Amino acid sequence: MEKMKAIVFNKKSYPDKLVYCEVDKPVPNDNEVLIKMHAVSLNAADYRSMKMGIIPKRKIFGADISGRIETVGKNITQFKTGDEVMGDLASFGFGGLAEYVTAPETALIIKPEQVSFDEAATLPMAAMTALQALRDKANIQKGQKVLIVGSSGGVGTFAVQLAKYFEAEVTGVCSSKKVRQALSLGADYVIDYTKEKFTNKDKRYDIILGINGNYPLTAYRKTLASNGIYVMIGGSLSQIFKSLVFGWILSFGSKKMKSLAAKANRTDLELLAKLLEKGIIKPVIDRHYSLDMTADAMNYLKQGHSTGKVVINIEPNINY
Ligand SMILES: NC(=O)c1ccc[n+]([C@@H]2O[C@H](COP(=O)([O-])OP(=O)(O)OC[C@H]3O[C@@H](n4cnc5c(N)ncnc54)[C@H](OP(=O)(O)O)[C@@H]3O)[C@@H](O)[C@H]2O)c1
Repeated sequence: MEKMKAIVFNKKSYPDKLVYCEVDKPVPNDNEVLIKMHAVSLNAADYRSMKMGIIPKRKIFGADISGRIETVGKNITQFKTGDEVMGDLASFGFGGLAEYVTAPETALIIKPEQVSFDEAATLPMAAMTALQALRDKANIQKGQKVLIVGSSGGVGTFAVQLAKYFEAEVTGVCSSKKVRQALSLGADYVIDYTKEKFTNKDKRYDIILGINGNYPLTAYRKTLASNGIYVMIGGSLSQIFKSLVFGWILSFGSKKMKSLAAKANRTDLELLAKLLEKGIIKPVIDRHYSLDMTADAMNYLKQGHSTGKVVINIEPNINY
C-alpha cells in the first residue's frame, strides 16, 4: 500500500489532537477521483465537529480543498487527470488535510486558471455561507441597508463583498484594528464594537447577518427595520442554540428571525469562482501554514480573531 502524509485526529494525543503522520494513500472507487492536494482552508466546522465528537471515517479533517486530479474512477465523466479542481468535502467525509484525497465528482468544480490554489481553497464554505445568507435567506435587494456583525472573519469578509456586489449599503461590525480592512473591502460604514454598540444607535437595517459575537436576539430584533430579516449564521454555541430555539418566537409581526444551515452545491460554487476570477470578490488570507503545522493553525483559528481565512499549504513547491 502506498503511503502519504496526513493530519490524523487522535483524541488521546496531548496537547493537540491533530497528529502529523503517515497513513495509507486513498484509492478512488469507480465513482471517485484522486486529488493531489495543494491547499485547504480551515473552518469552524473542523474544530466544532472535533469538539462534538463528529469525526470523519478516516479521521482526517479539512473540507475546503483545491488540488489537481491524479487519477479518475471508471465512471467519472466530468473530470480528467490533470484538471485543477476545488470543492467542499464536508458532506463527503472531509479528508483534505492530507497529500491526497478522494472525492466524488459532485463535490468538485474546475478551478479557474487565473485563480490560485490558495484563493480557491478559501471559497467553498465561507463564501457559500455568505452568499446563501444574503441571497436565499434574506432575499437581498439593491439599496437595502445591511448590517454584518462579525465582518472581519472568514464568512464576514466575503459577506461584505457579496453584499456590495448585490448593491446594498453595508455596515460592518468588527474590532478597531480591522476597521480599515472592512472599509477596503467595500463597507460603507463600520462600527467598532470595542467603542460603541450597534444596539445603541438609532439606525435600523433591512438585513442583519449575525456571524460572530454574542448579542441577545432581542437586540438584533430591535435593530431591524420593519420588514427586516435577521439571519443567524454563527457565533458562540449558546448563541446558535438560542437562535434555533427562540428565533421563531421572535419572528412575529413584520420582522423575521431566521437561521442558516449552508448547503454546498456546485452551482453556487461556480458563481463564486466566477466572481473571484473577475476580481469582484477577493479572499482575505490571514495566515498560511504548512501541513505539519496544522495543529497550530487550528489553535489560532479557534481563538476566534483571525482576519479572513487560514490556509494550509500542502504542496509547498507550487507558486501560489
Ligand atoms: N450557519 C452556517 O451554515 C455556517 C457556515 C459556516 C460558518 N458558520 C459559523 O459562522 C461563524 C463565523 O465563521 P468564520 O469562519 O467567519 O469564523 P472566524 O473566521 O473564526 O471569525 C473570526 C472573526 O470574528 C470576529 N469577532 C469575534 N468576536 C466578535 C464580536 N463580538 N463582534 C464582531 N466580530 C467578532 C473576529 O474579529 P475581531 O478579532 O475583530 O474580534 C474575527 O475577525 C462560526 O461560528 C461558524 O461556525 C456557520
